Amino acid sequence: MSFTDTAAWQRLSTQAEKLSKKHMRDMFDSDPQRSTKYSINACGLSIDYSKNRINDDVLSDLFALLEECSVSEKRDAMFRGDKINATEGRAVLHTALRNRSEQSVLLDGVDIMPEVRATLEKMREFVTRIHSGSHKGYTGKAIKHIVAIGIGGSFLGPKIMTEALKPYTVDAVKVHFVANVDGCHIYDVLKTLDAEDTLVVMSSKSFSTQETLQNTTTAKNWFLQSGGTQEDIAKHFVAISSNVSAAVDFGISEDNIFPMWDWVGGRYSLWSAIGLPIALALGFEHFEALLEGAYEMDKHFVEAPASKNMPMLLAALGLWYRHFFDGQSQVLLPYYHYLRGLPAYVQQLDMESNGKQVNMEGKVVSYPTGPIIWGSEGTNGQHSFHQLIHQGAGCMPIDFIFPLTAPNSDVEHHAMLASNCFGQAQALMQGKTFEECYVDLENKGLSENERQSLAQHKTMPGNKPSNTITFKALTPKILGSLIATYEHKVFVQGVVWGLNSFDQWGVELGKVLGNQVLDGLKNQTALSQFDSSTAALIEQFQKANPEL
Ligand code: F6P
Repeated sequence: MSFTDTAAWQRLSTQAEKLSKKHMRDMFDSDPQRSTKYSINACGLSIDYSKNRINDDVLSDLFALLEECSVSEKRDAMFRGDKINATEGRAVLHTALRNRSEQSVLLDGVDIMPEVRATLEKMREFVTRIHSGSHKGYTGKAIKHIVAIGIGGSFLGPKIMTEALKPYTVDAVKVHFVANVDGCHIYDVLKTLDAEDTLVVMSSKSFSTQETLQNTTTAKNWFLQSGGTQEDIAKHFVAISSNVSAAVDFGISEDNIFPMWDWVGGRYSLWSAIGLPIALALGFEHFEALLEGAYEMDKHFVEAPASKNMPMLLAALGLWYRHFFDGQSQVLLPYYHYLRGLPAYVQQLDMESNGKQVNMEGKVVSYPTGPIIWGSEGTNGQHSFHQLIHQGAGCMPIDFIFPLTAPNSDVEHHAMLASNCFGQAQALMQGKTFEECYVDLENKGLSENERQSLAQHKTMPGNKPSNTITFKALTPKILGSLIATYEHKVFVQGVVWGLNSFDQWGVELGKVLGNQVLDGLKNQTALSQFDSSTAALIEQFQKANPEL
């Protein structure tokens, strides 16, 4: 049965018809307590969801929809280690990586917690050796620079969490992140470094990702050309992978390989040894605080009733706009420079999980699924795309994310940042009517004709929904809770849509064809196998790069 066959869905369809005719400004006018009623607090996070096109009945039916879709049962199956990633025959247990309790987590009858804890211990010891300077390079120097190479979930988590927690970075080392196969990325980093005090951390769950292999090969060649020998590789290269044999074949010594497991999806892997660059940048205790925060949110997700459950609430509101207001996208506006990478992180988390149209039964679904995730740091967006958000067509629910205090700033700046964040949410909710614009123009002395023509252009429809997520300060623990909130939101929506949120077959074809084009570019395969467009593009490249 599809969620569109549920009783809750039928009621929601009726509710949507009614709510589409109501304006949020009227909802606030008729209920001064609206904000208090529609706010929840958990794990140090506060969510004000009063600026949504909802009422008690809508919320009740949204939570009934989650219940009719067995969200809680599916959640418990995930935590229990059931192989819910059915197309790959795998469990989904990123929650085990941050399990701070003494409870075991069984996978095929075997408790996986001992190896999870052993890997965390291996990470802790390694970080201590690097930070203390006791780990020496091939000329006896301590390590001062880390080149963290990875892409997708092997890059976004480490880079964005490290960036977000900049106030917590240690002086002992500086971490440089490299992802793109575009050579300028790796070369721009390497040319600033000395091989003697540089450690390369290569992260690849599959150990088969073209970009990461190429970048690590370039780094290895740079190391050997800088004076290091093959024997010295062990002092300067470590890897995180579930494919240990491939890593050893590549030349990484087995002692320098941190394991990860097939029950951890790439976009859910920052809590695993993939998070080693985070621990190196911040210190292991801050990495553990990140885990602690995610664990607190896991407990909240399991224990809180739907109406007070942050991931379920955010998921339900997203479904409401996706299906009843044609909400094509979900906007993330972190009003905090250090969180500027969050939209990119949630893009992979959400779009690679739910950007699908085939359900668990292998049938093409007849409804929209994962939204387009986009956004950028506030206040910058106000000077680029906010025009569209305010006066463009369509419904684009927004999550404003704001720390109430910020280190490395001052209260003057932070008050101004707050005023922009809260002011934007207010403007989007209440808008500005034609009549209000008309009176403004009249007070400015414009003629009747000018007033009539300009007022329409200045009218702001408002009724644009948003959530405002606040917290005292962005600590590692708070960040862990925030990220886990979005992970579980994505999970809940995937359950309702009947999707497998944990595979990513859609990325395979591009990789295969990319390798065939590479053969074509290198004249290792006839151009006749390509369509005329691709063949012509290959020829353009060959003409511009005769040395290839
Ligand atoms: O984009 C496909 C993907 O497999 C992501 O899911 C993953 O995070 C990324 O590529 C990197 O994969 P790996 O860690 O195996 O190099």
